[in-house]
Amino acid sequence: MSTSIFLLWLVSIPLAIYAAPNNKIQPHGFLLNCGGSEKIEQDSLTYTPDDNFIKTGNKSEIQQEGLVPLLSSVRYFPDDVEEKFCYHFPVNKGRKLLVKTIYYYGGFDGGKEPPIFDQIIDGTKWNINTTADYAEGLSSYYEIIMVAHNKVLSICLAKNEHTTSNPFISAIELLYLDDSLYNSTDFGKYALVTLARHSFGSHDTIIFPDDKFNRYWYPLLDDNPVVTSHTSITPSAFWNMPPEKLFENSITASRGKTLVVNWPPFPVPKTYYYIALYFQDSRTPSPFSWRVFDVLVNGAKFYSNLNVTTDGVTVYSTTWPLEGETKITLIPPNNSPVGPVIAAGEVFQLLPLAGLTLTRDVAVMDDLRKSFNKKPQDWHGDPCLPKDKSWTGVTCSSGMNTRIISLNLTNAGISGPLPPSISKLTALTHLWLGSNELTGQIPDLSQLKYLETLHLENNQLQGSIPESLGQLPKLREVFLQNNHLKGSIPASLKNKNGINLTVTPGNEVSS
Ligand SMILES: *[C@@H]1O[C@H](CO)[C@@H](O)[C@H](O)[C@H]1NC(C)=O
Ligand SMILES: *[C@@H]1O[C@H](CO)[C@@H](O)[C@H](O)[C@H]1NC(C)=O
Ligand SMILES: *[C@@H]1O[C@H](CO)[C@@H](O)[C@H](O)[C@H]1NC(C)=O
Ligand SMILES: *[C@@H]1O[C@H](CO)[C@@H](O)[C@H](O)[C@H]1NC(C)=O
Ligand SMILES: *[C@@H]1O[C@H](CO)[C@@H](O)[C@H](O)[C@H]1NC(C)=O
Ligand SMILES: *[C@@H]1O[C@H](CO)[C@@H](O)[C@H](O)[C@H]1NC(C)=O
Repeated sequence: MSTSIFLLWLVSIPLAIYAAPNNKIQPHGFLLNCGGSEKIEQDSLTYTPDDNFIKTGNKSEIQQEGLVPLLSSVRYFPDDVEEKFCYHFPVNKGRKLLVKTIYYYGGFDGGKEPPIFDQIIDGTKWNINTTADYAEGLSSYYEIIMVAHNKVLSICLAKNEHTTSNPFISAIELLYLDDSLYNSTDFGKYALVTLARHSFGSHDTIIFPDDKFNRYWYPLLDDNPVVTSHTSITPSAFWNMPPEKLFENSITASRGKTLVVNWPPFPVPKTYYYIALYFQDSRTPSPFSWRVFDVLVNGAKFYSNLNVTTDGVTVYSTTWPLEGETKITLIPPNNSPVGPVIAAGEVFQLLPLAGLTLTRDVAVMDDLRKSFNKKPQDWHGDPCLPKDKSWTGVTCSSGMNTRIISLNLTNAGISGPLPPSISKLTALTHLWLGSNELTGQIPDLSQLKYLETLHLENNQLQGSIPESLGQLPKLREVFLQNNHLKGSIPASLKNKNGINLTVTPGNEVSS
């Protein structure tokens, strides 16, 4: 994956506590107050403690007067052994999700600067550096829109080469979006990372309940005049369902003039973006309440002769190149009696997915994880992804469909039985589990058509040597000594051409 992820967006979640009576219908999904010990209410939303979604980490309170409840606690991860610390959420496979992670350091560990670390959502990793925001007294949040590719979604934190103290997290929001939202993007190949979302001409941030998915729409006020709308819109009639409140204010230019908006209000890295712009004619509805203009982005035609009525309209591009500063220009035709208007905009970075580990391989590894006692500490999240953080002992193929090709837990201190499902890891070439305390029988491995080497020596395995081993076409090395195996060596295995087979000492196997 060549595209790196940037999130330049700072959030000032207000520091003052304001109590909102909570009788609003909650959005569908999960709202977690990480490290918290009780439910809290904020902005009409109820956030619950995170204990049911993660097994590791410690909790800390932040002592800072007037801090909103959501930022007043963190979960942090002092463990030096584990590689990743993961939350797991049961989700509806195939549904679209808005995932927001919120960080506010608050000096919870007595330090001066927040630690830098990685965040990994379903195998897609990005760097969390909240240093600049924290220096300005702000919390930071990271947001991604994606489709759930499995029944479980993992959000992990991991240490990286810049991590000098303990990774932490303040809050997680994982909310379902209606399927029609942002549906012009192929979510099988991409996720959308939120870069900017602004309400032009408004003074307040628009959030839940005005936006039923709790998307944050930040106010953007520039030198252009602001107009107030005389009629409301119907969000469900709009592409992407923008909140009705978004259209209360728009920015405009006087009659016949061109409107220029410098937005997003910061330079962006060179890559492709999804851009959506939202418009409504602000006048009282009448047969004449419409205006037409061209929409240009950095001088290039984004939309020609856009006819904006009092019903409003969304225009978007799924892949638009941007680099550095961006300028939106709205040009009315000559002698137009009114100026152009614009109400809001969104920009997302298109993030090519890192590829997905085959679901069945993930399920088998989950079986192994449950079956083994004393498994490696970092066996959490996706076994293969991100690439430099695969599980201890697991080697994976590269490419879009990631498979597990080798499992090597030689002398890793594991005990317990080998679950039969291991034979569903059909891309395995090497299976090395020697010098552990494995018990039970050797399961049927007949589906491991690519298996070249099998090491199960120095365990406490019982039963017979499966006949099927002799049928594996590529198998050339089998080590089974020092177990409690019985019976005889299957002829097909013993007589296999060029096989390097070791069964003794330590078994009661006749040859
Ligand atoms: C974190 O919690 C664990 C388990 O409750 C405890 O043993 C450990 O001392 C705690 N670590 C810190 C740094 O508080
Ligand atoms: C983190 O952000 C700060 C402030 O922007 C910057 O000075 C620092 O180099 C960044 N660190 C890393 C490792 O990216
Ligand atoms: C996306 O949603 C819009 C609005 O509901 C709908 O009109 C359109 O057909 C959908 N497009 C796709 C590709 O599903
Ligand atoms: C714009 O839309 C309105 C309402 O549908 C229509 O009456 C008007 O003719 C349109 N203007 C242009 C230039 O197409
Ligand atoms: C498995 O790990 C052991 C011990 O670390 C090592 O000696 C062996 O070469 C590894 N086998 C494979 C196939 O990588
Ligand atoms: C059998 O495999 C072992 C381990 O890879 C190797 O050390 C040994 O030389 C092999 N023996 C033969 C006869 O190929």
